[in-house]
Amino acid sequence: MAVQPLQERSATIPGAFSGSALRADFPVFETATRSGKRLVYLDAAASAPKPQVVIDTMADAYAHHYANVHRGIYELSEDATNRFEGARRKVAAFIGASSEREIVFVRNATEAINLVRYSWGRANVGEGDRVITTQLEHHSNIVPWQQLCQEEGATLEYVAITDDGRLDMDDLRAKLESRGGRAPRLLAVALVSNALGTINPVVEITRLAHEAGALVLVDAAQAAPHMPVDVVQLDCDFLAISGHKMLGPSGIGALWARRELLEAMPPFLTGGSMIIRVTLEGAEWNQVPHKFEAGTPAIVEAIGLGAAIDYLSSLGMDNVREHERFLFAEAWAALSQIPGVRLLGPADPAIHAGVISILIDGIHPHDVATVFDHEGVAVRAGHHCAQPVMLRYDVPATTRASFYVYNDLDDVQALSDAVRSVQNVFTAKA
Ligand SMILES: Cc1ncc(COP(=O)(O)O)c(C=O)c1O
Repeated sequence: MAVQPLQERSATIPGAFSGSALRADFPVFETATRSGKRLVYLDAAASAPKPQVVIDTMADAYAHHYANVHRGIYELSEDATNRFEGARRKVAAFIGASSEREIVFVRNATEAINLVRYSWGRANVGEGDRVITTQLEHHSNIVPWQQLCQEEGATLEYVAITDDGRLDMDDLRAKLESRGGRAPRLLAVALVSNALGTINPVVEITRLAHEAGALVLVDAAQAAPHMPVDVVQLDCDFLAISGHKMLGPSGIGALWARRELLEAMPPFLTGGSMIIRVTLEGAEWNQVPHKFEAGTPAIVEAIGLGAAIDYLSSLGMDNVREHERFLFAEAWAALSQIPGVRLLGPADPAIHAGVISILIDGIHPHDVATVFDHEGVAVRAGHHCAQPVMLRYDVPATTRASFYVYNDLDDVQALSDAVRSVQNVFTAKA
């Protein structure tokens, strides 16, 4: 059966918004590419473009509402503090936290995970303990645990992944079993893999981990921008997000943790703002979350993140997920038909986010991305900070296309056209 060209089918895209119409909200799409072609931005998994409303909110905050927060007894500082704390409330609501006191502003997901590693980890992981992570993690959810385990004399174990990029749940159950009467201390897992696109069954994973006696850290850096994320539903203990991947600015992210954990954890960085009283003999810590926010925070970046959350919420996270699920399914179907193309990760759109790792026979991903660039198609080529994934599938790198709200079927078409161009370029040279 002949497949209908993608562009003719664009009217059938489901969901509450049109990606191509939303491009008007993002000034980056006005930027000329060196190819002279329309920018087809397929690299949201690395960092997302910013809508005008985020840029305007930040410019306005710097221009008219800027002062340091939590310290000035004057109107401007109170205004800045209200906007900054308002952003914290928006983050809390966005991920279903019961209180904004459970939201710690950090620079990014990497810092959120490191905060847990240094603060909770040092206090709770010791000689002979076990920490579990998985083979499909971003380096940010591997290296901190390697360092912690080396420092404390603990062991780090990795849950295996299947040939089609899912977590091996039998292996996960086996790793969670107590050894010598000791349960693992922590399971650190991504909700969505940045290299494979896999959506992990975190509700089930958390249940299994808790039954085994382990706490759970969820790396939601690739999930929170693209689907509803609810810490109560996930029933996790820690959750990390990055603002720049969810249409917000860089330099701001958040750690969510259960209140009693935050209360019990020692500070990560120390200095101003995180104290309530300092004498020459010592210091008393501020209440949470301020105990973990030493120094002047990224005030305007937090406010910008709040604007990004408003923008995403106005679209509806269920709609965002549905939009990307559709684009993924169309892209997977289109790319799978091209001879010489191999795709990593699960084929099932129900467990695959809008990230596709592509391999083209005989052509290095860096060459692929270079030819793509000549077509105006921006993707990431490399190991995606997930080298253990590359080792698992015995590939040096992949070409990764990642979708977001401003993408549409015309972008899926551009992607599959670009793959054919790459093959033509390299076949012609051979
Ligand atoms: C799954 C995942 N976790 C963590 C990170 C780290 O995010 P950041 O660089 O914003 O700290 C990334 C970034 O790509 C990611 O994809």
